[in-house]
Amino acid sequence: MVASVALAAAVVLCLSTSTTLAYQVSMQRLLTSPILSSANSPYDYNFNAAYLPLVGGNVSGIPIDCLAVRVQNIVGVQVPSKIAIFCESGDRQTFSRDPYVVIDPSQSPAQADGCEDPRVVLLPDGKTLIMLYSAVNLVPNAARSKLSLASCNTAIDPQCRSWELHGAIFPNIFWSKSGAILIRPEGAPHFLFWGDTNISIATTTNFYNFTDTATFVVSTRSDFFDSALVEAGPPPLQLSDGNHIFLYNSARVSSIPNPKPGWDLEYNVGYVIVNASLKDSTLPVVVERSSSPIFSPVLGWELCDTANMVPGQTPLVVFVEGAKPLPGVPNSFLVYYQGCDTSLGVALLHVDV
Ligand SMILES: *[C@@H]1O[C@H](CO)[C@@H](O)[C@H](O)[C@H]1NC(C)=O
Ligand SMILES: *[C@@H]1O[C@H](CO)[C@@H](O)[C@H](O)[C@H]1NC(C)=O
Ligand SMILES: *[C@@H]1O[C@H](CO)[C@@H](O)[C@H](O)[C@H]1NC(C)=O
Ligand SMILES: *[C@@H]1O[C@H](CO)[C@@H](O)[C@H](O)[C@H]1NC(C)=O
Repeated sequence: MVASVALAAAVVLCLSTSTTLAYQVSMQRLLTSPILSSANSPYDYNFNAAYLPLVGGNVSGIPIDCLAVRVQNIVGVQVPSKIAIFCESGDRQTFSRDPYVVIDPSQSPAQADGCEDPRVVLLPDGKTLIMLYSAVNLVPNAARSKLSLASCNTAIDPQCRSWELHGAIFPNIFWSKSGAILIRPEGAPHFLFWGDTNISIATTTNFYNFTDTATFVVSTRSDFFDSALVEAGPPPLQLSDGNHIFLYNSARVSSIPNPKPGWDLEYNVGYVIVNASLKDSTLPVVVERSSSPIFSPVLGWELCDTANMVPGQTPLVVFVEGAKPLPGVPNSFLVYYQGCDTSLGVALLHVDV
């Protein structure tokens, strides 16, 4: 703990003395309409999505992108979420091709009440995909969420139709969610940024067993846009200088009238730049943090603009879990985000390093 307090103090010092930002970060919508919604999906809600490398194969020699998406139907009430894979359609702008469910409440009592919020990385072996997701089950008087791991070997199962479930990564923690793995090019230790209030750092050497360090990489700030909670975004993305950009989701209490009963939060996207290339297994250090959101709910389907008849589950939400490096364009990424816990959109993230 002494070491981590010293580290935190060093980070605070560094942030408070730097006035100009070394990195220029922008995130802009590529389309104003959703790439996946109830209009082109068999599901009512199609939201938190991970980018899945490899599984789409090639059509006419061109790789097809796929997403693992949290899907949910309303049958009188909301039924528990599942995770389904969708691939790019022929128009290359929507993701409605060939959906198939891969993670399902029926697979284990531990996830009987929901399989939510996938984040995926490709391991250095070039063939194994690791998915972290929230396994929810209702216990007396409470909902329990356990951050759980599934793996797929694309050399054996190219479309990842069948994932091996490995269970909870922190079996003794009652509530765990939102895990983004940072794979260090230099090798182990690798890092997991996880949590949906503050974001903690865990370490791993093998991607299956994780040790929490009880140190935050990102925590809430009372005087900024991220005052109510911070929650992991997609797996951190490496930049051309070797550092990583880690997008995070955040919420603040909003005074904008909200039609969802008992709900007053607005969600925005922020970022930190981390140096995870330190010697001696030192934990990653934040070298820069956004002072204002880089992406906020604006469009009708991100606001759940009920006045204009745009329905949705949760007003004033944009939320990111998936990103893909843009081939051949350094420091540029396609980011898959959801609006209103309802539909999926796509934006372009660019970092001037
Ligand atoms: C798909 O195409 C990409 C580039 O066009 C190529 O690198 C890759 O090997 C191809 N994959 C398969 C399975 O054919
Ligand atoms: C590490 O993870 C593997 C795969 O999930 C599991 O079988 C094993 O029990 C874990 N080991 C420890 C020490 O937790
Ligand atoms: C999150 O971190 C902030 C800042 O360090 C702290 O004030 C807050 O109590 C933490 N929240 C939780 C739930 O640990
Ligand atoms: C990351 O930190 C290491 C150790 O301090 C340093 O050598 C390296 O230059 C840093 N990387 C960047 C991109 O600043």
